Amino acid sequence: MEGSRVTTRRKQPTELRSHRWFGRDDLRSFGHRSRAKQAGFSMEDLSGKPVIAILNTWSDANPCHAHFRMRAEEVKRGVWQAGGFPMEIPLLTLGETFMKPSTLLYRNLLAMDAEEALRSYPVDGAVLMGGCDKTVPALLMGATSANLPALLMPAGPMLRGNWRGQFLGSGSDVWKYWAERRAGTLDECSWREMEEGIARSFGTCMTMGTASTMAAAVEALGMTLPGASSIPAADSAHARMAVACGRRSVEMVWEDLTPRQIMTTEAFENSVTAAMALGGSTNAIIHLIALAGRAGASLDLDRFDALSRRTPFIGNIRPSGEYLMEDFFYAGGLRGVLARLGDLLHTECVTVNGKTLGENVSEAIVCNESVIASRERPIGPEGGVAVVRGNLAPQGAVIKHTAAEKRLLQHAGPAVVFHNYDDLAARIDDPSLPVTPDSVLVLQNAGPLGGPGMPEWGMLPIPKKLLAQGVRDMVRLSDARMSGTSYGACVLHIAPESFVGGPLAFVRDGDIIELDVPSRRLSLRVDDSELARRRAEWKRPEPQYPRGFGHLYSLHVTQADRGCDFDFLEGTAPIAEPKIY
Ligand code: FES
Repeated sequence: MEGSRVTTRRKQPTELRSHRWFGRDDLRSFGHRSRAKQAGFSMEDLSGKPVIAILNTWSDANPCHAHFRMRAEEVKRGVWQAGGFPMEIPLLTLGETFMKPSTLLYRNLLAMDAEEALRSYPVDGAVLMGGCDKTVPALLMGATSANLPALLMPAGPMLRGNWRGQFLGSGSDVWKYWAERRAGTLDECSWREMEEGIARSFGTCMTMGTASTMAAAVEALGMTLPGASSIPAADSAHARMAVACGRRSVEMVWEDLTPRQIMTTEAFENSVTAAMALGGSTNAIIHLIALAGRAGASLDLDRFDALSRRTPFIGNIRPSGEYLMEDFFYAGGLRGVLARLGDLLHTECVTVNGKTLGENVSEAIVCNESVIASRERPIGPEGGVAVVRGNLAPQGAVIKHTAAEKRLLQHAGPAVVFHNYDDLAARIDDPSLPVTPDSVLVLQNAGPLGGPGMPEWGMLPIPKKLLAQGVRDMVRLSDARMSGTSYGACVLHIAPESFVGGPLAFVRDGDIIELDVPSRRLSLRVDDSELARRRAEWKRPEPQYPRGFGHLYSLHVTQADRGCDFDFLEGTAPIAEPKIY
């Protein structure tokens, strides 16, 4: 027995999936073996060994993964050590900052890339190398559907940013100082110095943005080695973790420990609880719901909200808190947080190392209570995300209320409506825009289909004339997402979206919108007959893609409350192994 998982038997070499390619005495196996020899490998390298796919999302287009060539070699070292055969397979990368209009548009494409690579090649297990925002959910979604033994090697956060001795956080401090620059309180020289100092090493955004949130959520889900998600990318411990991933992946094959054995409904509840305790990114909601859909587990917006309500907010990391991921690592990292959450977790859930979550954190300590607060003195009494509903969002919407000015969490004000992003960009700083600090800024046509890909436009900029008055937060509404590094009273993911005729499409300037986060309500104070009249006048916009991947996406993407997966990729219906002729 190892941990709480009873390993009844180990696979035999002839039971390996790769044996079908390499182990038989037939024409095709001759071809497969001779081609392995073409690459310089002998049968001593390969025979009877688990083949481990190293799914590498390295690219010049993804600076967060700049260390992945080196890390892939380290993973291979671990695979060789454990008696496996490594096979590195490059996949599409989703470089968050460079890829337009939105990496979410391509998340499902990478998920398909991962799933089909695992299905079509002679592999027995996988190490998933990802970190930058959508790469983590995409790789996990693909691996879950393929359901071969797999674990994630998270990219790790980059070092703290630095400007004139002050720490800078990815994204969060960019938005903050950009607002000052627009308000005329920050000079160009300072702005340029920040550009030099904010991204100091390889690795992912070092705030509790989507990348750090998803890495932590996936560790709590049981799909990384214990402690892996908090290690800074540039720390030597990260390289040692990569080697350990390689070693462990081989053992997982012999034990036949597959993602769907680990990713149960209870494990998803652990994952959500961890994300909420960290004041994590709203993007995690979309990704975890999509991932649960692949695993056959139960998770929806209401469960998210219920878990958020009962989870104390204890991770003091920007944008909801003060510190950065490097501080979090030194303070005890995610293992410290999970140890503190204790009875709020299903500690019996099995993880990729074959032990339970409870066993993995049993000796974890917290060394800095300013960074990881205690349950008795949390930063906030409940988790970072609230799900709101009402006639404006019948299928739900979300708000990261821990990162908003508290006075705005119960607010009613007149709408100022922008029909799309171009309209917003053209008019937001117009001195004649009829807007006051009490207005509610509304952005339409920024959802899964309207954006397309729900771009991270949900933190609508504060109009310049209000910035000059000292206003730094307002209630803002959209069917877009916002970066996990963003903040403010931004209601996001409104479903159904305006592009498909959700009620957001019918909001007009001056309509009164009421947000009440404590009672989870979002209401448009317009009577039903008037809304019906507006609906009858509404015309669905033309599709944006006449052909190509965008067309496939438009036909099959689900709304935000279902995770924006493709409808034909959801579920666990088995797909037969490929025939080898
Ligand atoms: Fe890569 Fe933020 S841009 S994680």
